[in-house]
Amino acid sequence: MCGIVGYVGPQEALGVVLEGLRRLEYRGYDSAGVAVRIGDPAAGGELATARRAGKLANLEKALAGQPLPPSTIGIGHTRWATHGGPTDRNAHPHLSTDARVAVVHNGIIENFAALREEFEARGIEFGSDTDTEVAAHLLAAAYDDLPAGPDRFAEAMRAVSRRLEGAFTLVATHADEPHTVVAARRNSPLVVGVGQTADGVPEYFLGSDVAAFIAHTREARELGQDQVVEIHRERGLTVTDFAGTVVEPTAYTVDWDAAAAEKGGHDWFMLKEIAEQPQAIADTLLGRIGDAGELVLDEVRLSDQELRDIDKIFVVSCGTSFHAGLIAKYAVEHWTRIPVEVEVASEFRYRDPVLDRSTLVIVISQSGETMDTLMALRHARAQEARTLAICNVNGSTIPRESDAVLYTRAGPEIAVASTKSFLAQIVACYLVGLFLAQVRGVKYADEVGAIVEDLRRLPEAVSEVLLQMEPVRALGRSLASAGTILFLGRHVAYPVALEGALKLKELAYIHAEGFAAGELKHGPIALIEQGTPVVVVVPSPRARESVHGKVVSNIQEVRARGARTIVIAEQGDDDVVPYADHIIRVPRTPTLLAPVVTTVPLQVLACEIADTRGHDVDQPRNLAKSVTVE
Ligand code: G6P
Repeated sequence: MCGIVGYVGPQEALGVVLEGLRRLEYRGYDSAGVAVRIGDPAAGGELATARRAGKLANLEKALAGQPLPPSTIGIGHTRWATHGGPTDRNAHPHLSTDARVAVVHNGIIENFAALREEFEARGIEFGSDTDTEVAAHLLAAAYDDLPAGPDRFAEAMRAVSRRLEGAFTLVATHADEPHTVVAARRNSPLVVGVGQTADGVPEYFLGSDVAAFIAHTREARELGQDQVVEIHRERGLTVTDFAGTVVEPTAYTVDWDAAAAEKGGHDWFMLKEIAEQPQAIADTLLGRIGDAGELVLDEVRLSDQELRDIDKIFVVSCGTSFHAGLIAKYAVEHWTRIPVEVEVASEFRYRDPVLDRSTLVIVISQSGETMDTLMALRHARAQEARTLAICNVNGSTIPRESDAVLYTRAGPEIAVASTKSFLAQIVACYLVGLFLAQVRGVKYADEVGAIVEDLRRLPEAVSEVLLQMEPVRALGRSLASAGTILFLGRHVAYPVALEGALKLKELAYIHAEGFAAGELKHGPIALIEQGTPVVVVVPSPRARESVHGKVVSNIQEVRARGARTIVIAEQGDDDVVPYADHIIRVPRTPTLLAPVVTTVPLQVLACEIADTRGHDVDQPRNLAKSVTVE
């Protein structure tokens, strides 16, 4: 939520910053802005800024007509609005009254109102409705109060950080600091890139995530909580805590390159990411299954005894990641016989859940930065629960603060709507479930081995589904003018129905609801009118008890009331044929693993409907990929 970029180096900063913003735009696209420091390094300089409401393209267009003077220091921002509407006036960067300090911000400054009053009492007029602007005024004042010296700007940032409450990543430039960009981080993401140009001149980058600088370097530094970083043309990188004590940041090399963050010939990132799902699943399984078929989860830093002591599991997450948890529940409970509760993170910590040392809290987050999930994790840790993160972004906050981590290896996911990381999350949950079953001895090794073999077949099954998506696209085009689409599922197909409805809402802006098919007769059936499209995800005929037959009855019930039925069923399931207006076939897959294949047509359907309606599939309105505010 909000993308931030900073640059100090020999290149033309504006180009570097705009390129970084392009790669971070998925984090928010209500407005975009840049600031560069211009003027002779030896003499006093000034700041040049440009800001525009709307997508980055608006800013780029404005800059093409009215370019900023050349500079080698710059900051930039792409916004997801919280305080203040998505207007030019509220677009970042925000400036101090004397226009010598420019600040970009991600997060929410919770005590901004009191701070703003303080400044207003001194006669300072605010130029925006944002919480951010106080940081610009505070930083200018703190800088002016400090004696000249090499650490002045960073110390001013530390002083400001100590006064702020809430969540913030701040990145700032100062007209009197020709070589430096400083930044602070609390509860919001920030990483540093360290590179050099082809002729060996060092350069430094700041970004909300590594995508901001991946075109220039893969060498990154992880920042901890409550730290201030200075990137300086000659002195390089200095990290301190808010008190000023120097700390050594953790270095790491990003394991993907710029090409992985390009569309690669697809119309949308989402389509590319849907196509990458077989690979995402295969990579997530890679190296985690030993030669004898046993599970090897090296990154799980919990002892066997701790795992054996677990008597309850919570899975906590948001959005699509929450649906991964709902799907996981069926398999994990079945395999481990441990009760599993799944809950949205924003509710979890407010209802006083019963947690103790024998509770395992699994947090699932693609980004590793979702604020609600992070806060739920911290709540769980404070109650002494064991915590395990399933996450797609190496070194992000959530895995760093968890007792154990299992990374999904889906690669960078740029489209706001989550696809490949979702399937990878489900597979990671299966691995955790099997691992627990193995350690606790509730499954024999050969039983675990057999399920592992089923998991290994999933990439191929998903590839098979992807080969048959043309009719699904055609169906999508025919549904583009629907006012409401309902999704039904039972057993493991129920959370798949929820995910199908969510995808449609977020991409196509069509009213969509997912229901447990068994609940149909308790209300939702009243929504059905002549021609209402109803997507029914049918569990395998081999699913437990007679769940399959009941869903076939549900299809008949909605059809009898005029619904247009779209049925997702496995190959060879002929029971559904008489009642389906459209059938989407998926390969036969073991009951508990079926969501991995049945989800795929629903992703394609939502994407096609959104595209037909003329929406930006990768950047749906009002959304952001990484929600770093509560
Ligand atoms: C946002 C995104 C969703 C995502 C959710 C959770 O709402 O738009 O696609 O599922 O956040 O994000 P996380 O990074 O924690 O998985």
